[in-house]
Amino acid sequence: MHPQSIPPQLETYFDRASVAIALASCSDDNPLVRVNHAFEELTGYLAADVVGKNCRLLQREAPNDEARERIRTFIASEAQDTVRTPILNFRKDGRPFVNLLFMSKLRSQSGRCEFIFASQFDVSRSKPELLAAYDTELARTLVELKPRMAETGIIVEGTLVTVANTAATVAQAKLRLAELDG
Ligand SMILES: Cc1cc2nc3c(=O)[nH]c(=O)nc-3n(C[C@H](O)[C@H](O)[C@H](O)COP(=O)(O)O)c2cc1C
Repeated sequence: MHPQSIPPQLETYFDRASVAIALASCSDDNPLVRVNHAFEELTGYLAADVVGKNCRLLQREAPNDEARERIRTFIASEAQDTVRTPILNFRKDGRPFVNLLFMSKLRSQSGRCEFIFASQFDVSRSKPELLAAYDTELARTLVELKPRMAETGIIVEGTLVTVANTAATVAQAKLRLAELDG
């Protein structure tokens, strides 16, 4: 049977993480199996609202064609381990934000994709130094996650490519949001 729940020792780890985290199954339409407290804070959705559903619900009617194409390519690809893209999302209360989404595959030792790990960050209401701090924290989370997952026979693929120009990334996201308002 395909595992639909994460190893219990990871539960506490996810909740302690200060960065927003979501975990989805690789099978079917990638239903979410776990989101942490920071995800609930960021999106306004509680775990009970989103677990079992695909995370695209955050996009509502936003076109996001390019970002979705990049994500679909990543999910379908055997070779690509991570993807990182800004994508327009909406909080539960309807407030839009540009989500800098990072995704990475978690594979079993046989190489089968078991879970997809994701982390979300509101880059449109950030400052360059906050984005840099988030990047550092996400990198640390991934480094800590690897050996914990390895104990349960799951391999975390890929490493985080940090944002090269945080000022430009934040400015671009703010512009996108301003265009939406205008
Ligand atoms: C674990 C995980 C987390 C995701 N988190 C988000 C997210 O926070 N925001 C978002 O817009 N899409 C997120 N996605 C991407 C969508 O679920 C979906 O894969 C994407 O929209 C491309 O597929 P589609 O074009 O069929 O919608 C996530 C996907 C996975 C597997």
